[in-house]
Amino acid sequence: MDFKALVRAALKARENSYSPYSGFKVGAAVLCGDRIFTGCNVENAAYGETVCAERVAVLKAVSEGERVISAVAIAGGGEKLEKTFPCGSCRQVMAEFAKPDTPVITAISEDDFEVYDLGGLLPNIFNL
Ligand code: THU
Repeated sequence: MDFKALVRAALKARENSYSPYSGFKVGAAVLCGDRIFTGCNVENAAYGETVCAERVAVLKAVSEGERVISAVAIAGGGEKLEKTFPCGSCRQVMAEFAKPDTPVITAISEDDFEVYDLGGLLPNIFNL
């Protein structure tokens, strides 16, 4: 699996972040088969309506017909990128379409990233 390409896509998606309230820019990329779907965080003046980058990416993939996510990359930070993990809600949304061993990558750059797995980030996943 080409983690670097996925990281590059997340970094690029981060450039579109709409985050005037927090100043925290996040980009995400999900791999489905050989397709990559990206997302960025989209904030709102009614703060609670903000949507995370990861959920934007997952929902784009699913709404385009995908049902299996095989990897996720996240790149986030203020001015400077920092190791950013998905929030609890995003972990649960990913879990709907991914497996416990699905890699979740937190990236600072194409050459500086760490790979976790979804089951480690969200143990005892709820599903029906
Ligand atoms: N954010 C994400 O996009 N993904 C996460 O997993 C954590 C938080 C966004 C939401 C908000 O726009 C900003 O980061 C600060 O919380």
